[in-house]
Amino acid sequence: MDERITVEICMGTTCYVMGGAQLAGIADRLPEEWKDRIAVKGMRCSGACQQGDRVGRAPFVRVGGKLIAEADEGKVLAAIREALAH
Ligand code: FES
Repeated sequence: MDERITVEICMGTTCYVMGGAQLAGIADRLPEEWKDRIAVKGMRCSGACQQGDRVGRAPFVRVGGKLIAEADEGKVLAAIREALAH
C-alpha cells in the first residue's frame, strides 16, 4: 500500500488560537522516514468546536480521517504512528 496518510490541521479561529497555529508547522518536524508517507494540510472548521462543550477541546486535528480533540504534537505523532502501523 502506497497511500499517504493525511494530517489535517484545523485552521478555524477557535482551533488556531488554541494551539493549531503551532501545529501548522508540524510537517517540518516529522521524522525524516515519515516525510514521504504523510501529507499535512489545513482544513476549515468542521464544526467540532461548536458541538456541546467541545469548544474547550480545540484544537482539532484529523489524522487519516480520525478526529483528535485537544490535539498537541505528541497526540498527533502518536496517531500518525498508529495509522502507519495499519
Ligand atoms: S475552529 Fe476548529 S473545529 Fe472549529
